[in-house]
Amino acid sequence: MAGSAVARTADKLLREVLKAKKGETIAITCDTESDWAFAAELERAAVDIDSKPLLVRNRAPPHVGRAAEPYLPVESLTGAVAESDVWIELNGKWLIYSSVYEAAMKRKRTRYMCLVGMNRDMAVRCVGNVDVPAVLEFQRTLQRITKEAHSMHYETPAGTNVSFENDPKRPVLVEGDVAGPGEYMLIGQVDWAPIEETINGTIAYDGSVNPPDELGLLDEPVKLDFVNGRLVKVYGGRAAKVYERWLKSFNDENMFVPAHVSYGCNPGARLTGNVLEDERIWGVLEWGLGNQSDSFQARNTKAASHSDGITLRPTLVGDGELIIKDGRYVHPELTGIARNIRRPGAH
Ligand SMILES: [Fe+2]
Repeated sequence: MAGSAVARTADKLLREVLKAKKGETIAITCDTESDWAFAAELERAAVDIDSKPLLVRNRAPPHVGRAAEPYLPVESLTGAVAESDVWIELNGKWLIYSSVYEAAMKRKRTRYMCLVGMNRDMAVRCVGNVDVPAVLEFQRTLQRITKEAHSMHYETPAGTNVSFENDPKRPVLVEGDVAGPGEYMLIGQVDWAPIEETINGTIAYDGSVNPPDELGLLDEPVKLDFVNGRLVKVYGGRAAKVYERWLKSFNDENMFVPAHVSYGCNPGARLTGNVLEDERIWGVLEWGLGNQSDSFQARNTKAASHSDGITLRPTLVGDGELIIKDGRYVHPELTGIARNIRRPGAH
């Protein structure tokens, strides 16, 4: 890993992606699982543009989101991030969807970017080496295609076979396109919340799933059966048992409700076991269960935690038209733009 590539990536993230300016306060939050050297590189980049960086690190709690709160200095963290102009979250055990995050979103001052667990290598792959305007153009086209599709269905070789309907009034989000205060995710993801009660069939996670902590990369699928938007059965092997036990441990019915579905389209992302990167692998589809972000303008389900799982090599059809075939974007409006996006290792 070349040090200069990391430095260039930190500069690009602040200037080009987050549009950080001189005099702004930039909070960088970490925990004891984070890549401290990447945080320090972001601090250096913030100093270079004459902004005011603030590095904060807490001990990694055993849970994420709302369930982490009893273990966190909630008031101190809230002050640090809600009164900053930019907040970059590098935490391993994420603060997103906790009351710290809710307070920052309510305050409406902060441009928040969720980069949970991002390390230097991943940053270079998924930001430093990426043609940001080209990927954003691809994402906007994918957003338009998805918004126009009412009924969707997809299958994967691992056993996903699920259908759902979209509400044209709900937004389809282009992640990483920063414009003013609000919540932003890493570039290379387009996500939305389908109408929950129309989600029926089987979703088979076969890339990775996290949390819980015990799970990451999967060597056998975790299969989830949904009836009218509610998870009714978890099955597969050992990982499925761990996952089911974890979902039930919260005694929270809302942990069994899908929060969103997402396309991955970051040309640098590869399967590592870190969901932040895995959910952005070119051509994958990913589901989130549990707490639902306000930004989806959907049912707004609040839950104790949130978990994401990756389905590889999907074939997705929207209103009868192929969008992805076996993990390749094949929709005619996408193929031209996709060709201009260099994908390392693509064939
Ligand atoms: Fe998610």
